Amino acid sequence: MLLGLDAPDDAGIYRINDELALVQTVDFFTPIVDDPSDWGAIAAANAFSDVYAMGGRPATALNLVGWPADLDVELLASVLEGAAQMASQAGVTVIGGHTVDDPEPKFGMAVTGFIHPDGVIDIRGARGEMLIYLTKPLGTGAIATAIKRGEAPEDLAAQAIESMKVLNREASLAMIVAGASAATDVTGFGLLGHLHGLAKASGVSAEIWSNEVPRIDGVTELIAKGLVPGGTRRNEDHFGQWVRFASDIDEVKRTLLFDAQTSGGLLICILPELAEGLEKELTERGVPSNRIGRFVDADAGMIEVKNKR
Ligand code: CO
Ligand code: CO
Repeated sequence: MLLGLDAPDDAGIYRINDELALVQTVDFFTPIVDDPSDWGAIAAANAFSDVYAMGGRPATALNLVGWPADLDVELLASVLEGAAQMASQAGVTVIGGHTVDDPEPKFGMAVTGFIHPDGVIDIRGARGEMLIYLTKPLGTGAIATAIKRGEAPEDLAAQAIESMKVLNREASLAMIVAGASAATDVTGFGLLGHLHGLAKASGVSAEIWSNEVPRIDGVTELIAKGLVPGGTRRNEDHFGQWVRFASDIDEVKRTLLFDAQTSGGLLICILPELAEGLEKELTERGVPSNRIGRFVDADAGMIEVKNKR
């Protein structure tokens, strides 16, 4: 075992031989959008993401389904179809699954991928002076909450769904080629929660430039209206103790940085001298390359948030 419960990361890594290791991860959740096929596709992209975040290549997947006995199975067929299409886009073969009776629908996947044992990009490799990149905009948590309450403007909902359906494969390939030192994907703990985990595991502190962090246009208006998921509030309560905000970062922007994401982007850490190469690789693959901060040799896991001038 190269990575397991003693060093929690995006996925577990199990070495088969000197050339090959398994990457294994599982994720499932309740519906986050109205369209069952979109839900399936997002759940699949989200499950594969933890393999991409390690620098691995997902290969096979198992469907995990919780389904109410009185809910139309045609809807389940659409969920599985959306997931299958995403799997095919990722080059992943769905080889089985299991369904249980459940009062609330749930869907996700257990995913197995491959990686070279020496090519693992875990959360422990960040060092002072390294730069931080984020490959997708924030805001999917607030927008999903607005969708559930019927308060999401159509264009915002569409942007969030499109963003969650983007595979992190190209971002992962770019970081491998460019020589990234550490990475994770931004999901339920929000940008600051996942960054705290990575900085703590790496023994460094981070500086985030709030005005450089990408967000889905219009999401701050939703947050200002109080459309904030419970998970985001819990992230603020729990991770807030490791974050210091400059006084000119307003409440809404603070909340956004804690927003619980689904199928969020990769958070990539790289040496400054390799950063230009990473930007080139990301851009060539059509992935947004947002430089959002840097690491500092200071208290492990602490984060300072300010605006870059
Ligand atoms: Co992850
Ligand atoms: Co995960």
